[in-house]
Amino acid sequence: MLQIADLTKRFGGLVALDRVTLDFEANVLHAIIGPNGAGKTTLFNTISGMLRSDSGTVRFRGTDISGMAPHRISRLGMSRSLQIKSVFDSMTVAENLWIAAQAREGVMHPFSNRRRFGRTAARVDEILEQTGLEGLRASPAGTLSYGDVALLEIGIALATGPTLLLLDEPICGMGPAETESTVEKIRHLAESVDIIIIEHDMPVVFDLAEWITVMAQGGVLARGTPQDIAENAAVREAYLGDEDDDDEDGEGDGFDA
Ligand SMILES: Nc1ncnc2c1ncn2[C@@H]1O[C@H](COP(=O)(O)OP(=O)(O)OP(=O)(O)O)[C@@H](O)[C@H]1O
Ligand SMILES: [Mg+2]
Repeated sequence: MLQIADLTKRFGGLVALDRVTLDFEANVLHAIIGPNGAGKTTLFNTISGMLRSDSGTVRFRGTDISGMAPHRISRLGMSRSLQIKSVFDSMTVAENLWIAAQAREGVMHPFSNRRRFGRTAARVDEILEQTGLEGLRASPAGTLSYGDVALLEIGIALATGPTLLLLDEPICGMGPAETESTVEKIRHLAESVDIIIIEHDMPVVFDLAEWITVMAQGGVLARGTPQDIAENAAVREAYLGDEDDDDEDGEGDGFDA
């Protein structure tokens, strides 16, 4: 589904991605984990075209997308949720989705207003179903809970009709109940679209992911099933340093949970 070969991205003297080579299979829920600054977000930025790589290639469903502009990659079916908040608070959930969906239909059917209206309406209904936000369609986005805003952000990313969705820390900042329901919705979503999720919450990763990629210092440290990764000594080392190291960031690394 996605093939990354020898991908390198430098910021001045810093090598954020160091000849990363990775394949992502279709119909598998993938997670990428790794310590802060490992290069996870840079990987998403580079494959989605928001950043230009220094070298290497990215193929998406057989098409070489290296160096392609983000809107062209999006049109091929790749979409990502942004970490920055992109919803309009004063508009309803359905209106937010409408704007995002219309942007796509406008490109697909520029001369047919009536056709566009129907297709946009159908797309909005489909996304409301996919995200489980039907009951909130008429609620202003500004009144939503933190978790429902995150789902709306995912819904906006779905508006372009992607076949691959890149989610960068969608759980970040949620309480336990919201986390659980969002995890269930992501699992449901994964039945209709390929998903690669970057996530720090280890219980979530181990619950959700079928295949885990561990990044550290711009490279790939390990890949495998959740069980492989939980048992991997190099991974534990990267997260924990010394076995009895304090959990410095206080976020919890989850490996001892
Ligand atoms: N636009 C940029 N300009 C300069 N340096 C950057 C830029 N973006 C990222 N970096 C650096 O590249 C490295 C990788 O950053 P990146 O954001 O990809 O890490 P990450 O794995 O997503 O970390 P986190 O878990 O904290 O989100 C870091 O050292 C970061 O400071
Ligand atoms: Mg990041």
